[in-house]
Amino acid sequence: MPRFLIDEVKDRLDIVEVIGGYVALKRSGNSYRALCPFHNEKTPSFHVFPDTGTWRCFGACGEGGDVINFVQKRESLDFPEAYRMLAQRAGVDIDQNRDPEATSRLNRLRDVNHLAATYFHHQLLNSAAGEAARAYLRRREITDETIQQFQIGFVPEGWDNLITYMRSREYELDDLEAAGLIIRREDGGGYDRFRDRVIIPICDSQGRVIGFGGRILGDGEPKYLNSPQTALFDKSRVVFAYDHARRSIISQDQVVLVEGYMDVISAHQRGFKNVVAAMGTSITPQQLKVLSGKTQQFVFALDADAAGINATLRSIHVVRETFASAAVPVPTAGGRFRHEPRLAAVVKIAAMPDGMDPDDVLRKDPSMWQRLIDGAMPLVDYYFEQAASEDDLSTAHGKADFVKRLLPIINEIDDIIERKHYVARLATLSGVTEREIDQQLEIYAQNLSRARKRATAIPKPAEPQSDSEEPPSLWQDEPETPTHARPSRVATSRDQQIEEHILAYLVIRTDLLIWADGELAMIRLDPIDTVDFQHAANRAIFDAQQEFLYSDAAALPSGLSQHLDPSLLPHFESIWQQAQNCRELRDEQLRKDLVDSVLRLRLRRVEQDTLKLEQLIREADDEQDLRSHLGHLGKKSREMQTLTKVIASRSHSSRWMNGNQRYTT
Ligand code: UTP
Ligand code: MN
Repeated sequence: MPRFLIDEVKDRLDIVEVIGGYVALKRSGNSYRALCPFHNEKTPSFHVFPDTGTWRCFGACGEGGDVINFVQKRESLDFPEAYRMLAQRAGVDIDQNRDPEATSRLNRLRDVNHLAATYFHHQLLNSAAGEAARAYLRRREITDETIQQFQIGFVPEGWDNLITYMRSREYELDDLEAAGLIIRREDGGGYDRFRDRVIIPICDSQGRVIGFGGRILGDGEPKYLNSPQTALFDKSRVVFAYDHARRSIISQDQVVLVEGYMDVISAHQRGFKNVVAAMGTSITPQQLKVLSGKTQQFVFALDADAAGINATLRSIHVVRETFASAAVPVPTAGGRFRHEPRLAAVVKIAAMPDGMDPDDVLRKDPSMWQRLIDGAMPLVDYYFEQAASEDDLSTAHGKADFVKRLLPIINEIDDIIERKHYVARLATLSGVTEREIDQQLEIYAQNLSRARKRATAIPKPAEPQSDSEEPPSLWQDEPETPTHARPSRVATSRDQQIEEHILAYLVIRTDLLIWADGELAMIRLDPIDTVDFQHAANRAIFDAQQEFLYSDAAALPSGLSQHLDPSLLPHFESIWQQAQNCRELRDEQLRKDLVDSVLRLRLRRVEQDTLKLEQLIREADDEQDLRSHLGHLGKKSREMQTLTKVIASRSHSSRWMNGNQRYTT
């Protein structure tokens, strides 16, 4: 999805190898150093970080970026030239979307899928042979309306029903093969892949058919036959019914994941429209990425059988891995940042009653489904339950194992109240004191951070400037932004306004993101990421915007708006209007203001956390609580200090460089 091709290009290249082809890199810890190729120096201050796929010069030139802009700079190429060159080296066909031949190939493939879906649907509704399938769907209580909505179809028995039909529409075996609709025979002939099955079309996010799932009418193997991977159909990316569910996912700020096609269809039919399924077994990181752009609230509604539970655990594992990679910078005592993985998403588990799958529940009683979803269990509770059912808590060994299993889970909880809650529960169940659990947690966290440090040793950043800086301009709140160019909407929070301000920069100048990320990396902060956008609508626009990162700015805004859900258009319009006010700004101003806005946003969030902690400290009536709150507060205030210093030093250098340029709207 977003950044797909460019990511693929970067993923396939080894940045150390590419840059190593230009300069002599020396390994130091997990990064590589060299004399900076962009300015004269005697001691090496040029670093390459294979982990993040970036490079930085901490010396005089202060340059940095990714593999593409290194080559660009080094070879004096403009972006498309460098990108093209590296794409070729990586073996990625970046013209696949622009090349008219490839485009027409893909379009032809879309036409084949569309036509096949129409044919299957027609067969279900009208053919005599379709009666068995119609009866089958009736038995499953699928309504005619749902059949229409999901364009459910049927293909009769026989080896060439589809082939014959498609030939009459001038499509050949090659077309059908490319679409995965036939199986080739050795003699060059072919036969229909789907025979005597109910057909469920699978669509992309824009509702275009890209593949099919075919269900057998009775018992038999396989129960579902799916399209193979094709140029359009990539099982690891597609989320079944996402096209139908997207709006609800956004408006409800929650997605419900089920296992089966039929579960999804059954849920939608009964008005639960934020329900989707992964294709087959466990969910992939790519699928999660698609969804996490819309919401951070995931409910896994899974069958209570063993397969369901295993799939759950696999899925959760993927969720953790995926979200763990969105590392957050946590300041350490020495004023440095440590990047700690964190689970940003809220994951809950709704276990179906024994022997029932979501479809059974929905058919039995939709209100029961609603209750199960509303009562979904937070992931951590689910782990508690799992571990408790597997460990014998009446034995010493069982208790020890129980604690060992849960420590890593509890360690990932940021919220202090939640954390305390689980520590208490773990203490009760294992029969040790909370203090002992806290100690264990501390040891665990220390070991973990030591292990991580070894894995991602990073050079010490330049010392921030002195403390005696006057308060930064960004620290103070400015008057609320005038509301011109903003369609009437309910009161937007200041945070939301800043998010939109950031988006406004990004929509007028797509390349600003790279610059901003580069600058942030130089001050050891995370790049601008979906996590910076806490409002689902802004997040969706940010995601769509990323797809245009490297495309022609002239394509905006119409190009971008085509990728947006219609419900987001007014929102986008308002951002686009705002963006017009930024147009006259010079490049450096744009870049600087963008980064300032990001810092400001992050600072506000730390401030908010601090206020929350201070409140807790006032209310704490237990010494241990108090100490824990103070510890967290210390962490937050160091984070705040670092941000403040960064902001101060930026506002200082900007006064010096281009006159008191400030955050403007
Ligand atoms: P289920 O067997 O739970 O599917 O498999 P379901 O939708 O509940 O099936 P029925 O029609 O109600 O009995 C979950 C999902 O796993 C994939 C499909 O995506 C299915 O929806 N699957 C399952 C296959 O691809 N092939 C199979 O043979 C079985
Ligand atoms: Mn089922």
